[in-house]
Amino acid sequence: MSVKEDILILAIESSCDETAASVVKNGREVLSNIISSQIELHTLYGGVVPEIASRKHIEKINQVIGEALEKADVTLKDITAIAVTYGPGLVGALLVGVSAAKAISFASGKPLIGVHHIEGHISANYIENKDLEPPFVCLVVSGGHTHLVVVKDYGVYEILGYTRDDAAGEAFDKVARAIGLGYPGGPKIDKLSKEGNPEAISFPRAKVGGSGYDFSFSGLKSAVLNYLNSCEMKGLEINKADVAASFQKAVIDVLVEHSLQAVKEYGLKRFAIAGGVASNSSLRAAMKEECAKREIEFYYPAPVLCTDNAAMIGAAGYYEYIRGVRSGYDLNAVPNLRLGER
Ligand code: KG4
Ligand code: ZN
Repeated sequence: MSVKEDILILAIESSCDETAASVVKNGREVLSNIISSQIELHTLYGGVVPEIASRKHIEKINQVIGEALEKADVTLKDITAIAVTYGPGLVGALLVGVSAAKAISFASGKPLIGVHHIEGHISANYIENKDLEPPFVCLVVSGGHTHLVVVKDYGVYEILGYTRDDAAGEAFDKVARAIGLGYPGGPKIDKLSKEGNPEAISFPRAKVGGSGYDFSFSGLKSAVLNYLNSCEMKGLEINKADVAASFQKAVIDVLVEHSLQAVKEYGLKRFAIAGGVASNSSLRAAMKEECAKREIEFYYPAPVLCTDNAAMIGAAGYYEYIRGVRSGYDLNAVPNLRLGER
């Protein structure tokens, strides 16, 4: 009897401000997950500076890949294929990971697999929840994306809605900056909200025409800025915790409503969240409660797998590998790559 061979994916992620590499076994077991974050560097400027991100990725990428192999206790010989994020993201940042992956693939003769960043975020759920299989609805909420997706099968997606303007995480970051919390704003608003009253200020829950599943957060962001300005003009003291909690509640209400509507409409019983904002404690609590009421199975990754990492790219890369997807040495960075496109 032949023993099924393990499939080891070396995964690389450099789409934004994290240089990351990971070794993932059979799609769901993380042997190493190395993340070199540039957050402290970008904090100085209040957001990610693309040119600085690219330079930092170049400095770190080889070291991070070496560490990922070492920590997993494997060499390139043991690796089955190389997976890399090739979009969407910052073009200069993506190019660093793509170039490194192509060089390793060429030198080792191992197949190369280009992975979509959002597919990676979704796939973080496979690592955390060994029993999770498609079909399910997934809400992807990160600094750059807000997508509501039906995962029909591994690698097969139907996009139900996305943001017309700011991503959810972007709104968190902008509001945090406006109330003086600094970058990245999400975790800071999450923490401060615990001391505030989510009903204190009535901020708008945006409805978007067209697809009932699309999102818009720029109106909410403006409403918060207007509220802050009017308080200042009237000489009123601002309760930052109340602003944070009321803003956060406005975002969460819309995310919960759209997500559960989709789960119901598509007759599914499984729902997952993914992306940096998915680590928000109030969002997780609200989703958990609403799913429990409707007997929907709720899945979410650990916070370290919500924000950018390469293990999620390894999980997605595994399922693409199994489906027979291979990229050529002409693989390029695609900053606006759409989910489901190749
Ligand atoms: O997924 P991610 O690391 O990068 C992108 O692909 O964009 O997401 C980063 C975003 C940032 O906007 C950050 O403020 C937000 O995720 N974030 C949070 C929390 N942790 C990170 N937002 C709300 N609550 C959190 N706890
Ligand atoms: Zn991301």
